[in-house]
Amino acid sequence: MKAINADEFAAVAKQFHVMCGLVLPEGKQYLVTQRLGPLLEGSGITSWQEYVALLAKDPHSSLAVGSIHAITTHETSWFRDANVFEGIEETVLPELAERIRERRERSSARRGAQITIWCAAVSTGQEAYSLAMLIDRFVQNNPDLLLEQFLILGTDISAPVLAQGMQGVYDDFEVGRGLRADLRDEYFEAVSGNRWRVRDRIRAIIQFQVASLIDPFAHVGGFDLVLCRNVLIYFDAETRARIVQLCGAKLSPGGIFMLGASECLMPVPDPFTVQRTPKAAFYRRA
Ligand SMILES: C[S@@+](CC[C@H](N)C(=O)[O-])C[C@H]1O[C@@H](n2cnc3c(N)ncnc32)[C@H](O)[C@@H]1O
Repeated sequence: MKAINADEFAAVAKQFHVMCGLVLPEGKQYLVTQRLGPLLEGSGITSWQEYVALLAKDPHSSLAVGSIHAITTHETSWFRDANVFEGIEETVLPELAERIRERRERSSARRGAQITIWCAAVSTGQEAYSLAMLIDRFVQNNPDLLLEQFLILGTDISAPVLAQGMQGVYDDFEVGRGLRADLRDEYFEAVSGNRWRVRDRIRAIIQFQVASLIDPFAHVGGFDLVLCRNVLIYFDAETRARIVQLCGAKLSPGGIFMLGASECLMPVPDPFTVQRTPKAAFYRRA
């Protein structure tokens, strides 16, 4: 595929902004040719104009799905930003446990009181599984709670990364990124090809679903905790604000919103207030 000129780049960038909210700033031409060039060649597309026209014609085609996967960054790891997970363990989980107890008292059903968590932009699933491991340990220390009282929904715009999350299978390299050996041995089983598969007990509390943050899905909401980490940097200010509003709308009153360790909301928008713990900051919905 020949190099992309300024007009072609502008057209590609505009199309991705429409399809997934992504901003491709001037100067990222190399990224576009490097990540999308092979896809175009493999699809027999001979020009950037033809490519953009095909995406515009059908933004849900396999070409569009493959393009979104190719252009987005899926970097993730187990317990990414250890402080955030320590903050969740020390501050957020005890609070969620109290919510279960209160709901249980109100409903008088031991199993009925459920906590729902949304990992928006979950990539290949490490964030959701890290949370599930933390929750399982927490439940072991709080015998009045049950693991199945927690439900985690992991969403992402990229179907291929979610497919790996759903399978819960990771190679040695992936497993080595941030996962302690004792947790690996407790929560994973070795499978062929030097790979590791998350045990069913943990998988059972997680559901994965393709969803775009700029194309809000209507059928779920009322989450107690929403994590939207390390993804807002890829959008412009207006799109970021829209996504933060979406996350707020998907939280139940008093619910908690968390960003990545290097991210913050400045100024803090309605309906959130910021709350700092010794380990992490989070935002609470009014
Ligand atoms: C850098 S990863 C972050 C993964 C994880 N949250 C973490 O912090 O380790 C960003 C993810 O956001 C997803 N993403 C990008 N644009 C999106 C959109 N419009 N809607 C939903 N997910 C999106 C990408 O596919 C990618 O998997």
